[in-house]
Amino acid sequence: MSNKIAVLLSGNGSNLNAIINKGINVSFVVSNNPNAAGLTIAKKANIPTYTWKSLSRLEKEVSKLIIKHDLKLLVLAGFMRLLSKEFVNSLPPKFIINIHPAILPNFKGLNAIEQALENCAKYTGVTIHYVDEGIDTGSIIQQEKITIYKNDTIKSLQKRLQVVEHDLYPNVIEKILSKKLQYY
Ligand code: GRF
Repeated sequence: MSNKIAVLLSGNGSNLNAIINKGINVSFVVSNNPNAAGLTIAKKANIPTYTWKSLSRLEKEVSKLIIKHDLKLLVLAGFMRLLSKEFVNSLPPKFIINIHPAILPNFKGLNAIEQALENCAKYTGVTIHYVDEGIDTGSIIQQEKITIYKNDTIKSLQKRLQVVEHDLYPNVIEKILSKKLQYY
């Protein structure tokens, strides 16, 4: 059984960096944003990169790459487009995972950190979940909570959340690949 993953991103790529640093083999990285800093991280690590601005073209090409590379898992790491129902349903169940900076089902969608602060939540955290057709609605794989302090800002909270993300995401990916998580 293949152990290969690919990463879809739109931005900084700090989670991609954490995945690479963990020694996980990334077959390729795809972005919808040609200026994503994550593409530079991939190139430095000698990982092939592809960019397609059009979502339908991106999905078509990724479908071909998944077969070509015999992928086991598609990892979304700050990918800011909603994958189509057709694309998600064309893949095996539990083939795509995502990381979200909140304790789902709280604070779904965009600006999850702002939402937590605006709601005066006492805690927030990180969720890793499978991707289905909805926005952050797929079944939850793992979550980790952090406390929100009174003087927290978007920036301070994001900083602490990313520390959690960079530890949790590579660990969960490793567990899925080694079948230590009973989701396959
Ligand atoms: C992360 O906070 C993740 O939870 C969200 O997008 C952000 C991506 O960050 N889905 P980075 O591009 O990996 O730095």
